[in-house]
Amino acid sequence: MIKSEKIWMNGELIDWNDAKIHIMSHVIHYGSSTFEGIRCYETPKGSAILFLDEHIRRLKDSSKIYRIEIPYSETELKDACIATIKANGHKACYIRPLVYRGPGALGVNPHLAAIEVAIATWEWGTYLGEDVLETGVDVRVSSWNRLAPNTMPSMAKAGGNYLNSQLIKMEALMDGYAEGLTLDVNGYVAEGSGENIFVIRDKVIYTPMVAQSILPGFTRGAVMHIAKELGYEVRETLISREALYIADEIFLTGTAAEITPVRSVDKYPIGEEKRGPITEAIQHEYLKIVHTGEDPYNWLTFI
Ligand SMILES: Cc1ncc(COP(=O)(O)O)c(C=O)c1O
Repeated sequence: MIKSEKIWMNGELIDWNDAKIHIMSHVIHYGSSTFEGIRCYETPKGSAILFLDEHIRRLKDSSKIYRIEIPYSETELKDACIATIKANGHKACYIRPLVYRGPGALGVNPHLAAIEVAIATWEWGTYLGEDVLETGVDVRVSSWNRLAPNTMPSMAKAGGNYLNSQLIKMEALMDGYAEGLTLDVNGYVAEGSGENIFVIRDKVIYTPMVAQSILPGFTRGAVMHIAKELGYEVRETLISREALYIADEIFLTGTAAEITPVRSVDKYPIGEEKRGPITEAIQHEYLKIVHTGEDPYNWLTFI
């Protein structure tokens, strides 16, 4: 990871090396944090943050689910993201706002612990490896299920939820795959460890429903929008495991992964084992918006 100069912590920009928390912070013991992953792109019109309003709203929503009251307004948090990018002089970067329960109480009851907020920014390239936006990745179906409903709230982007994602990711990497796909508690396709999934067959685009314990991603929303604009039918529905193996195209979406084609699942080849034509058309529109700054849908905040 490339260190930046400054981190915004509880209202102040401080040196990266000084951004520390106490070992007795509640978050370290119990995973009590909420966070976001946001991208800022360099465009010919200046640097632009993708879905800034939406990400900050999701941070508030995730926190509300876990009964965390963030001591800053959405406007203050957005301004702090922009101030951190400027302080670090980035043209393009990844932005990580983080809300966590700090020191003050060490029982499971979190209500006596202080609530703290930090925002870090750093420069980050392709998430699933170089060239994968074109070549695609090999993935496996994880032996771990996605969180079951009414256990951990998967609509919340919360630190503790990512223990499940870590098991999925480690298993996939140890077995030589770039990513693991999860099934939900009923055995239907849910999502990747950090991405949503789209499956294409006979020119119809399928994606799992939000109620299947997925994180409702903004890249997912953008893809559904672009696909419909391009004239494709998009269905949010149950997808069986074997539908993956006979798909014409599959791709993963996320702020970090952008739109990454899948070339094989469990060693079953998908399509021509490279980016398919519908994936390419959608990816092209998405990348055009974020790289040119031509933004017909108002998704970008220029800074
Ligand atoms: C589990 C999970 N699913 C899906 C996504 C994709 O969400 P988004 O497109 O908002 O980045 C992410 C990334 O944040 C994630 O961690």
